[in-house]
Amino acid sequence: MRRLILLVALIWPCHHTALRAQDVTLPMKPGSVRFAAFGDMGTGKSPQYEVARQLFRFHQKFRFNFVILLGDNIYGSKKARDMVKKFEEPYQPLLDAGVQFYASLGNHDDRDQRFYKYFGMKEQEYYSFKKENVRFFALESGYMDGAQLEWLEKGLAKSGADEWKICFFHHPLYSSAKFHGSSTELRGILEPLFVKYGVDVVFSGHDHVYERVKPQKGIHYFVEGAAGQLRAGDLRKSDLTAAGYDQDRSFLLVEISDDDLYFQAVSRTGETVDSGTFHRRVVIQGKRGLPDVPPLLERRHAGTVAHRAPRRRPPTIRLTWGQEREKGACLMCPPFLEPRHAGTFVRRTPRRNRRRSASP
Ligand SMILES: [Fe+2]
Repeated sequence: MRRLILLVALIWPCHHTALRAQDVTLPMKPGSVRFAAFGDMGTGKSPQYEVARQLFRFHQKFRFNFVILLGDNIYGSKKARDMVKKFEEPYQPLLDAGVQFYASLGNHDDRDQRFYKYFGMKEQEYYSFKKENVRFFALESGYMDGAQLEWLEKGLAKSGADEWKICFFHHPLYSSAKFHGSSTELRGILEPLFVKYGVDVVFSGHDHVYERVKPQKGIHYFVEGAAGQLRAGDLRKSDLTAAGYDQDRSFLLVEISDDDLYFQAVSRTGETVDSGTFHRRVVIQGKRGLPDVPPLLERRHAGTVAHRAPRRRPPTIRLTWGQEREKGACLMCPPFLEPRHAGTFVRRTPRRNRRRSASP
């Protein structure tokens, strides 16, 4: 009898832990908007497949309808057979279950992926869609030009005051990871718009960790770039960090019900590494108009940014990276991090009088 009690005592905690490891903490309220978010996954290697299997296990309990992809969706070769190996095979059970994917593009992705039938991009590098009371904006953070900013501002301005506004794109505006960290230049461009129009949440990848950032100017930021790739130990928890995880691959589950957002970050092995909820804030929308060119941008790239205001046409800001196709290059890292990018910032003149200005 004593042996039996001892055996039960030994087995029970393990069994109990195993059950808890795959518990869904999300409330699963009727009519809620449910989705998964992750990036940097498309390696075609076993960790990606293991994460995908875990994701499907959670899908059987938490029936999310769609996934937002945070860029670096396909690494390396991108031939048809690679797209099968690096996307269709690992996520086939989700595709079979009718889950829709919406991609944003990272620095390892081809722009032609906007035509890929499973990425839901409407053949556009940036686009938006709506699910119930949630408006999503998928941005192309590697090519943040004036046309995209203008499109984004119009879209944000048109969004209803009672809608959630969620942006997702590859390069994180805030990140405590050591390898890439915050894309401060991109932040200088986007954050004024986000604040002005009351963006609620931003999802990004690029750094191969999970991090939930403390709200910045009222906006919630998540980094989830570890659904295939991983930089173990890369997270340098800072004053920005609300929670983080860099010991294994992971993905993020999200549920929005009315004005509440619930989130759960899950590791490759099914462990919940972060979870919580927050309430949507009410923002009185600012006056419509074009964003200011941030001082940082003006100072660092003096003479390389066209900010024109013709009477009948909207102002344009055109930023083009000269070596954007360089394999493995980070488009938004500042020059002091990626010296090879120094001097590649070029200005394009309008089509009617196109000629390239010399690099600074
Ligand atoms: Fe990246």
